[in-house]
Amino acid sequence: MQPIGPLMIEHRLIERMIALMGAELTRIKENVAIEPEFAFVDPVFIDAAVDFMRTYADRCHHGKEEDILFAALATKDLSPEHRQLMEDLIRQHAWGRETTAKLLKAKEGYLLEKPGALNDVLAHLGKLVEFYPRHIELEDKHFFIPCMGYCSDSEKDSLLARMYDFDRSLIHEKYRLQVEAIERRKACKPHKS
Ligand SMILES: [Fe+2]
Ligand SMILES: [Fe+2]
Repeated sequence: MQPIGPLMIEHRLIERMIALMGAELTRIKENVAIEPEFAFVDPVFIDAAVDFMRTYADRCHHGKEEDILFAALATKDLSPEHRQLMEDLIRQHAWGRETTAKLLKAKEGYLLEKPGALNDVLAHLGKLVEFYPRHIELEDKHFFIPCMGYCSDSEKDSLLARMYDFDRSLIHEKYRLQVEAIERRKACKPHKS
């Protein structure tokens, strides 16, 4: 398999989550149109979507793109068009990360019944639903395949092996960070005897 193979397979799962986020957006908007007072944001869904976007789409998927594929391509004599596209894609990843953080903050505001929080949830959800398919299309159709032309077969094999290694460490990283975050929170609280 080429190193872009796992990335394209991951795109298909990201598209499925984006479709679910789009359906949730439509559901809330329809409820708002019928009876705004009974329109509700499902915080469990938003938490699941944010976790997916952070852990899978950003850390796992964008991580392999930026730290392995793009890092290797950065050492090549890329055409100005491909170099520009790669820089745009990195900027788009940062934008996706920021918008996901804003969605989480809006959901927290919604739970605290802050004015405007429902509209903020809808706005950030809508931006992510609109953005990701375009980002994926740019990579699948205009960047990944031509960029394989810059790599030899042995380089492609090495990139693929590094991607598998990267994936293998992620589950351990996720739960180590989770334990460390809880330990930090516990350490801040006084002990009760
Ligand atoms: Fe990407
Ligand atoms: Fe991607």
